[in-house]
Amino acid sequence: MVVAHRGAAGYAPENTMAAFYKAKELKADYIELDIQITKDGEIVVIHDQKVDRTTNGVGEVKEFTYRELTKLDAGEWFHTKFRGEKIPTLKQVISEFYGQMGILIEIKHPALYPGIEQKLATLLSEIVGEDNLSESQIIVQSFDFELLQRLNQISSNIPLGLLVKYRVQGISKAQLKDWTSIVQYINPNKALITKKLVKKIHSYKVKVIPYTVRDKKSINGLVNAEVDGIVTDYPDYIVDFMINR
Ligand code: G3P
Ligand code: CA
Repeated sequence: MVVAHRGAAGYAPENTMAAFYKAKELKADYIELDIQITKDGEIVVIHDQKVDRTTNGVGEVKEFTYRELTKLDAGEWFHTKFRGEKIPTLKQVISEFYGQMGILIEIKHPALYPGIEQKLATLLSEIVGEDNLSESQIIVQSFDFELLQRLNQISSNIPLGLLVKYRVQGISKAQLKDWTSIVQYINPNKALITKKLVKKIHSYKVKVIPYTVRDKKSINGLVNAEVDGIVTDYPDYIVDFMINR
């Protein structure tokens, strides 16, 4: 699976419609995106807690209403040709791409947004339908396992992924058993990937999608380690690699 990180973030402003369309054009299988919540409760697609880096505004996402956020430009910082791009709502992205590409949703800073898991589960159930969620190619991932546990209690149909930054190599069987009792994906930093680790995770019938590839030279090792997908800013690098291998 080729997963376009924040859309095809190497080619277009991350987490905008332009980046997601680019991912589709480059034949990615999934788009990855990050969610936060506005002051008035809208789930929006943006990576940072603040709007400063990726828009022409200043301040915390949670201090803006959605209407206020729509006035910000989320494209020009990347290149002038993207002037006019907006911060999308999650609903807009799902409505546009559901059924055409997979969608890997990362919940960012859950502690800032109490109840985000309930809000997300409700939205997914409304758009996709509770019974369709398990086969929907919509996956929710987070670094926060307790958040995923809460989400799983709300809806056991949502496919879940646990992001891991460190410590996986020496992870105990008990820990892995605990994680894999609710998640279908364990998604480590690419630096942690070894063939042995992937095999160990696979023995729990769980898939492995490491993040984030930004250069061509790390692809071979990951593919040889038999990962199930790769999160990348440059989906075409992976597509080309798989074609020419
Ligand atoms: O898919 C995982 C990856 O997106 C995590 O890192 O900081 O880009 O959200 P980050
Ligand atoms: Ca992310």
